[in-house]
Amino acid sequence: MFALKLELLLTAPNMSPITSAKFKNPRAKYNFQGRTCSITGVGSYVPAKVITNADLEKMVDTTDEWITTRTGIKERHIAAQDEFTSDLASRAALRALENAGVTPQQLDLIIIATITPDMPFPSTACLVQRKIGAHRAAAFDLEAACSGFIYGLEIAQQFIMSRTYDTVLVVGAEKLSSIVDWKDRNTCVLFGDGAGAAVLQNRPNAHGLLTAVMGADGGKADLLSMPGGGSRCPATAESVAAHMHYLRMEGKETFKNAVQAMLTAAREALRRCEIDISRIKCIIPHQANRRIIDAVSERLGAKPEQIFINLHKYGNTSAASVAIALDEAVASGRFQRGDLIMLMVFGAGLTWGAAVIEW
Ligand code: UT7
Repeated sequence: MFALKLELLLTAPNMSPITSAKFKNPRAKYNFQGRTCSITGVGSYVPAKVITNADLEKMVDTTDEWITTRTGIKERHIAAQDEFTSDLASRAALRALENAGVTPQQLDLIIIATITPDMPFPSTACLVQRKIGAHRAAAFDLEAACSGFIYGLEIAQQFIMSRTYDTVLVVGAEKLSSIVDWKDRNTCVLFGDGAGAAVLQNRPNAHGLLTAVMGADGGKADLLSMPGGGSRCPATAESVAAHMHYLRMEGKETFKNAVQAMLTAAREALRRCEIDISRIKCIIPHQANRRIIDAVSERLGAKPEQIFINLHKYGNTSAASVAIALDEAVASGRFQRGDLIMLMVFGAGLTWGAAVIEW
């Protein structure tokens, strides 16, 4: 009986670490009564149309040189007029389901992380449920801006570990081109559209999500926001004329907070797992700005070969960012089953997070 209680104490997910215990394999701590939250399939989708920095030079007062040196971005994918967030999400979801060997009908829950839903309601998750034919699944949207995918992984894990659900789909999907002011050079060069998805399943005593850190600071909500379209400022002719329905960002302050927040989240995730950064085979950071990624990596003591970067191709796709990167990293063989990987995110809210996964 005592042994059973001790085992429960040592293996409860996301509880604070027991400092006297040293775990050679962090999985030992997070494997709760034999249940593991495994990522059994990932997938992504980006729309066909590409806008290059050279294209942007013709639209606003900018240069390829400025965008490349300040951000690392070279091009971004932009959805067609009749292609919406639910379409991007559905395509990514079907690819993840196929890779997991799971049918849409097997899904218990669909979580869509997005700040660009098709419409205020119904949720994009419900639209995706219909599009992919997942008629058994509960469905809801999650709004944590660029941090949404890690928030989604953590929520899925909680449902799986609590035995509420066995099979959960988490998607980060955005059509940011629909809220970008294409006349504002400060923001329009930064963002792109796309979606990334993961299927999470209970797999007894298998590899999986070890820990996910989530953080927020609403005191800095004004740094990055879209003021119009909600209950505070519904759409009117005046709100449209005043550009209230576009994304706004204080770039420099956001930059500083991004570095600090991702660093704090990553350190906390490593501390919970009682591992050093050198144990992480691949680090997948939010793909907003190459300089942010370099600053965080350097402070973490990570080597360049540990970092996965694809922002030159997609720009910042918010909630889809690390989800697309995860799918590409898997497809390119950057790590193998059993390796430890870490995701790090930061976004409006402010929100941030980090997750350690035994792949
Ligand atoms: O996903 C959510 C998190 N988002 C982020 O993490 C984004 C964080 N912020 C950033 O990535 C950077 O702050 C930016 C890339 C947005 C801006 O880089 P910066 O080095 O902080 O530049 P800045 O804002 O200080 O602007 C420097 C100059 C300004 O001109 P003046 O005022 O010094 O004459 C801007 O007007 O660069 C100008 N500028 C541009 N010039 C050419 C701003 N955008 C452009 C542009 N092309 N596209």
